[in-house]
Amino acid sequence: MKREDIPPPYTAVSRHGVFPNPRHDEAARFNFLTHLNKYLAGTLGPGNAIAYERRVLPAFAEEHGRAPKDRFEIREAMNRDPYHRFWSALKRNSMEMRQQNGRAMVLRQLDELDAKARQYNEGRDTLELDPSIEVPHYQAQVDIHCMPGSYHGEERPGDVSAGANYDCGIFATTGGGLGALNDGGGQALVEWIRRERPDWTPRRILDVGCTVGHNAVPLAEAFPETEVIAIDTAAPSLRYAHARAQSMGVHNIRFVQANAEDLSRWPDGHFDWVQTTMFLHELSGKALPRIMGELYRVLAPGGLMLHLEQPQYSEDMPLYEQFIRDWDAFNNNEPFWSAMHALDLKTVMLESGFSQDELFTTGVTAVVDEAIFPKSKLGGAEDHGRAAAWHAYGAWKKEPGQ
Ligand SMILES: C[S@@+](CC[C@H](N)C(=O)[O-])C[C@H]1O[C@@H](n2cnc3c(N)ncnc32)[C@H](O)[C@@H]1O
Repeated sequence: MKREDIPPPYTAVSRHGVFPNPRHDEAARFNFLTHLNKYLAGTLGPGNAIAYERRVLPAFAEEHGRAPKDRFEIREAMNRDPYHRFWSALKRNSMEMRQQNGRAMVLRQLDELDAKARQYNEGRDTLELDPSIEVPHYQAQVDIHCMPGSYHGEERPGDVSAGANYDCGIFATTGGGLGALNDGGGQALVEWIRRERPDWTPRRILDVGCTVGHNAVPLAEAFPETEVIAIDTAAPSLRYAHARAQSMGVHNIRFVQANAEDLSRWPDGHFDWVQTTMFLHELSGKALPRIMGELYRVLAPGGLMLHLEQPQYSEDMPLYEQFIRDWDAFNNNEPFWSAMHALDLKTVMLESGFSQDELFTTGVTAVVDEAIFPKSKLGGAEDHGRAAAWHAYGAWKKEPGQ
């Protein structure tokens, strides 16, 4: 089913050809979790700041004779506060409920899902799996964001269970903040590049850590003549990604099982655009600079490198904000989150080979469907409400002699 054939209104998650079919109770649970997450973020979330200002900070100042010096001291103090503990427990539980619901829904129809995926995948040369690719230890050692089996786990060899579970629950996790097809990040990238370089058509795009291709698909749709290579180490996610794209009528993406730490199968300067979306924060401290170096190498002169992430913890970011953004590191199985956000990504990019004047940062807000985040009645301004927002860390690589 092509994007334009997916019927509006997009009041909830839209389904493509391999999307798991929910039963009544499963849909009801996901609806509940979607709204619970919106409520936790929008209504209850600000209560943490009130607890901090009114209770935790004054008590800290009295005990220590000074303000907290970093986000870790704030976390220690907040972890003793009853309101924060209550909010935190709800948030953690909502993630566990999401995983249980998604897994149960996927596993009971796994035969059917695998069969559908096989139908879309068989006989195509645009899915390249390579059993010799090992899942890196920083992925294998942890059920990332409480996801049983992470991105690569298989219930049985050759299945799509991990991809299907990831896809069916991300709408609930983000409170719909990525749009009906959870591709608001990719759509935002398309809007951004159309403004930035209206006449540019990259010959080849590399999307790294593509998972189920949420954000590679909008790029491929926007540039139908471009060859998009989407890589990941996780075979079950790639099988699902490829079937999903095919079912949406998107055929110009080659999904390749590869480790971004070693891109040696592609020559120097092979891609006009190399990019990641919500990927860097799941890498170990050693892997991240290695990958950045490889991406620099395969990027053509005149090409674009772009990384969408949450903002880094710069000196300008208040310590309380750093603390609350750090929640996932300690409560949601995101072991690299805290250290990665404390990095200066610009420095990492400089060390990969760029010069200062090639770098830029910009803000990007997910393009979401109006039925999820209606236009504000106030003055007609667009109200993205809780649509996801990121910082983009980018660089245009200079041509020689430029
Ligand atoms: C947070 S997800 C990325 C989400 C995805 N980019 C999107 O926009 O929907 C991280 C993905 O990176 C993959 N990954 C982790 N380390 C990798 C590596 N070294 N090379 C390639 N993929 C990797 C994981 O398997 C996982 O699918």
